[in-house]
Amino acid sequence: ISGKVVKDERQIGGYELQATQVSIISIAEEYPISKKEHGVDFLMDKRHLWLRSQRQWAILRIRNAMIFAIHRFFQQEGFVQADAPIFTGNAVEGTSTLFETDFYGKPAYLSQSGQLYGEAMAMALGKIYTFGPTFRAEKSKTRRHLSEFWMIEPEMAFFDLDMNMDLIEAMLKFVIKALLAECSNEFKMIGRDTTILENLVDKKFPRLTYDEAVRIIKGEQDVNGKNAIISLEEELKLVQEKKAAIKVEITDREQKLTVPGMKKGEIAFNQTKIDNLKNELKDLEEDERNIPQWINSAKTFEYGNDLGGSDETVITRLFDVPILVYNWPHAVKAFYLKRDEDPRWAKGVDVLAPEGYGEIVGGGERETDIGLLTEKIIEHKLPMQAFEWYLDLRRFGSVPHSGFGLGLERLIAWVCKLPHVRETIPFPRMYGRLEP
Ligand code: 4AD
Ligand code: MG
Repeated sequence: ISGKVVKDERQIGGYELQATQVSIISIAEEYPISKKEHGVDFLMDKRHLWLRSQRQWAILRIRNAMIFAIHRFFQQEGFVQADAPIFTGNAVEGTSTLFETDFYGKPAYLSQSGQLYGEAMAMALGKIYTFGPTFRAEKSKTRRHLSEFWMIEPEMAFFDLDMNMDLIEAMLKFVIKALLAECSNEFKMIGRDTTILENLVDKKFPRLTYDEAVRIIKGEQDVNGKNAIISLEEELKLVQEKKAAIKVEITDREQKLTVPGMKKGEIAFNQTKIDNLKNELKDLEEDERNIPQWINSAKTFEYGNDLGGSDETVITRLFDVPILVYNWPHAVKAFYLKRDEDPRWAKGVDVLAPEGYGEIVGGGERETDIGLLTEKIIEHKLPMQAFEWYLDLRRFGSVPHSGFGLGLERLIAWVCKLPHVRETIPFPRMYGRLEP
């Protein structure tokens, strides 16, 4: 379509095209994606075409802006981007989620994390970051897990846990500010209310110890006057009331449609209303199923365990800024984390995104004591041989250092407030999904 491009603030995108001529470039068959509601599985099967929809277009533009902002942040901070290999001989984050491949007759694994290589590069270059694909065989269908995702892993020499947390907070604020400045149209298109994002850039992100986080989850400690368990119970009631009201409205409108003589436009209007109400009902029904599970898992949480998805949801629904949870029981965290002066804790940090989203960053200060590291490798039943090169990094001189891993798709999902990570990446790979 050619014509005159006219600036018009009222239009999405700020412009409109006053057409003078239309010419056909290619004749298409009937398009499989129509305006009617499609199931997610259908749309995922047609992902190669679904990408042309406005909403997907907007999300991928936000992804692009985010990637560029992350690079800008680290480059401005004097980091060197350095790549870790994808074929690896060893696990980083435990052996249960490795994808095995054949490397000239020898088993090799697709990288779960570039961190160990990042540590080697930081000892050479000071401050580095990797930005690459990461693979985890996650045999479960959750809204947060992909089998192939992109991770940004900075690693900094002479950084302790506090400096690491300062850096994470600065990075997240930088990226969100950039997105707010560059992607306001895209946020509008996907219906993301950005108030929370606008407000959080000037707020300090709370830092909670694991102990405090557990007390909050179990309802033993309130946050800003809110109690985790009580507010979930109240929300469940609200969901049930809303559900009942919507059911009444659907019946009402369906009743109206049976009365003869209704105008065509009115029928269509009512039909669309009913479809939308039914969708809302589905969401409410999902909440009605989820909330009791969250309550139950919060109440029965066993002190000393890692936080699960539900626990993260419970605590982060109470916040409107990301929270940093540190000082973890070292039994549940990775072998490479430095032990705290108080030997109960490991110097790890998880960043949990608000609004129920949960973990977006995992990191910490690294153990530099070769004796303690060796103990941990044995305790985690990891093959010592594969870690000899990593131990060399301590054997031949090491300095205090820290780093973290940011899950790109997790950050996009939260910033865009998407119900699932599958729409954050052009072609998602996850349990049960290898095509298109
Ligand atoms: O917490 P994780 O497992 O930490 C590491 O891999 C460290 N080696 C990072 C480091 O310190 N250099 O993973 C880091 C982040 C998570 O917080 C999450 O955002 C994301 O990676 N992530 C996933 N994203 C999508 N799908 C999955 N299956 C993910 N697993 C982890
Ligand atoms: Mg983690």
